[in-house]
Amino acid sequence: MASYNLLLLPGDGIGPEVMAEVEKLVRWFTKTGIARFETEKDLVGGCAYDAHGVAITDAAMDRAQAADAVLFGAVGGPKWDKVPYEHRPEAGLLRLRKDLGLFANLRPAICYPALADASSLKRELVEGLDIVIVRELTGGVYFGEPKEIVTLENGEKRAVDTQLYTTHEIERIARVAFELAKVRRNKVSSAEKRNVMRTGVLWNEVVTRVHKEEYPDVELEHVLADNCGMQLVRNPKQYDVIVTDNLFGDILSDVAAMLTGSLGMLPSASLGAEDPATGKRKALYEPVHGSAPDIAGKGLANPIAMIGSFAMALRYSFGLVKEADMLEKAIANVLDSGLRTKDIAGPGVNAVGTGEVGDAIVKEMEKLAG
Ligand code: NAD
Ligand code: IPM
Ligand code: MN
Repeated sequence: MASYNLLLLPGDGIGPEVMAEVEKLVRWFTKTGIARFETEKDLVGGCAYDAHGVAITDAAMDRAQAADAVLFGAVGGPKWDKVPYEHRPEAGLLRLRKDLGLFANLRPAICYPALADASSLKRELVEGLDIVIVRELTGGVYFGEPKEIVTLENGEKRAVDTQLYTTHEIERIARVAFELAKVRRNKVSSAEKRNVMRTGVLWNEVVTRVHKEEYPDVELEHVLADNCGMQLVRNPKQYDVIVTDNLFGDILSDVAAMLTGSLGMLPSASLGAEDPATGKRKALYEPVHGSAPDIAGKGLANPIAMIGSFAMALRYSFGLVKEADMLEKAIANVLDSGLRTKDIAGPGVNAVGTGEVGDAIVKEMEKLAG
């Protein structure tokens, strides 16, 4: 039986609550003999700062580098509002993405049939929705230098963030989007702001060239990022794959989350480049949502984004495609049965807790595995 090394980084707030539900599935897989997962756990975010004074330790980074895949919960919360900027909880996640070279973040937004009425949009706009946002994750304004606040001679302060992209960074994320489109509905929408930003001009130019030279059979359209936000709530089903930069991808994916019913539904995979020698890539799987301080500690969090991220790990890191399909089917069946956390329950539906949804998904896996 294949054996894989998983590093679990539950983090803060609802992170540990949703990770506990994935751990049930990890145990189930090992018990059934489908795949053996050896797990290690470490701290990231505010809890790491409390224990070690940094958002992630070098030792935890070494474990992340060595793991076959990393599963990440969520970080942050009001408790750490005052910690030095370089040690804020979110810095742990950014270091993981940067140091592991996880430049490609796939954020699928699927409207499960049972949830067509849970979205804030009308049923007909979201029913059958299946889109993916391909977000560039290690460049742009998140990492560009200078990034600072300086005090001027007149006592005023000036804050600077730098939006920066190179040809190579745009080429490789464009290829990820085109490759994905080829096995989906063959359409890529590239979102930037070439009307205002030089990075947008270069982004548009490079995506156009990669398309012409390498993927002429895939349909490509360019859309200004602000218009893309509007189109996502006007008529989201016009899209298949949206490729965009780090900041626009962050914002557009939170918008896309509501098309599926809740931010608690959106999984993601953060992938590095394939090592030509081994065919392997570094990978971290993280729900799109944060630590949800408003509901943390109450057992109310929707675990589906985290469980869906584990399904993406099965698919992209371990080649367990049948098992990933099965897990997504188990999620759909549980939703069909009417079991819901509060965020997707809707009026008149009795919501259940995080653990009940996780248990029901494990039970459904048992049924599906026969
Ligand atoms: P958030 O995603 O934590 O929460 C936004 C809203 O969505 C809240 O009302 C929350 O209750 C709800 N929500 C989120 N996930 C949910 C789930 N699984 N089930 C049910 N409801 C859910 O965003 P925020 O409140 O803006 O940020 C809180 C903290 O989380 C901040 O410190 C932020 O930096 C951090 N954050 C971390 C990550 C991450 O670790 N990947 C992502 C986003 C935000
Ligand atoms: C996300 C989050 C992160 C981001 C934060 C926590 C650094 O919002 O993964 O969407 O901005 O990328
Ligand atoms: Mn975000």
